[in-house]
This record gives sequence, C-alpha cells and structure tokens, in this order.
Amino acid sequence: MLELASVTGRDVLFDIGCGDGRIVITAARRYGTRGIGIDIDKAMIRDSERNAAAAGVERLVKFIGMDATKADISEATVVSLYLLPESNSLMRPILETQLRPKSRVICHNYEIPGWEERKVLTETVEDENGEKHYIYLYVR
Ligand SMILES: C[S@@+](CC[C@H](N)C(=O)[O-])C[C@H]1O[C@@H](n2cnc3c(N)ncnc32)[C@H](O)[C@@H]1O
Repeated sequence: MLELASVTGRDVLFDIGCGDGRIVITAARRYGTRGIGIDIDKAMIRDSERNAAAAGVERLVKFIGMDATKADISEATVVSLYLLPESNSLMRPILETQLRPKSRVICHNYEIPGWEERKVLTETVEDENGEKHYIYLYVR
C-alpha cells in the first residue's frame, strides 16, 4: 500500500483503523514519514504506542483513540483504509470535505463506494500464503 501510494518522507499519513499501528510505523521506519493512526479500539492504540516505541519511531507517529468518522484529517496528504465498504462509505464525507486536492487515498481489499471516477489504480498482491489482496488507489 505504501509503495503503490508512493509514500515519502514529505507526506503526512493518516491510517484510519490503524489496528496495531503497522502501517504508520512501517512508513516512519522506511521513509521517515510522519503518521497518525486512528482506531476506535483503545486497546489497539496502546498496542500501537508500544509497537512504535519498540521500533524507535515514537517521535514521528501519534495514535488517537476515537471514531475516525469524527476526526480532523485535514493535515493528511495520504490516507490508508482497511475497513469494510460500509465504513468506507461513512468515511467518504470527511475524505471529500477535509482532504486537499491531489491527496492520495489507498484502500486494502474494499473500495470506496461512489469514488469510481477518482480511482487511478487497482492492484492484486499475493501474500506469502498465496492469499490475494486487492489494493485501490484514489486521488482526491
Ligand atoms: C482490518 S483492521 C485494520 C488494521 C490495520 N490498518 C492493518 O492494516 O493491519 C480495521 C481496524 O479498524 C478499526 N475501526 C473500525 N471502525 C472504525 C472507526 N469508525 N473509527 C476508527 N477505527 C475503526 C477497528 O477497530 C480495527 O482495528
């Protein structure tokens, strides 16, 4: 996802539904990207903070425990999503109103309903177990 969105150290990456923080932590380690992870599950936020400290990137990343549909994501240049289509639909209004033009949105497995005309790339990636993952890149 990071490669397909061409994430660099100049980006500000928001991961919506950050789980254990792996996406923003990987971007911080690989590219020095500043990242914000948001998850509604506070236990995942604590895991993310522990993982960021273990990876030595705590100065580059921040994790927020809240419902992402109410978040301020206006600083983002890249947003990553691995949520069900219903949740992607719930995120759509804030993606449309808060993101600056040319911001990239990268989705794992599930598309953003209604954003067909913004889609610039669909890629199928196979993991080490032979399982297929679908990645969709959009430009706001
Ligand atoms: C499939 S996991 C993705 C985890 C991580 N981004 C990854 O790729 O490994 C989805 C995460 O989204 C979170 N989530 C679901 N709805 C949310 C919402 N409205 N606001 C914030 N987080 C949400 C869940 O708690 C869960 O941790």
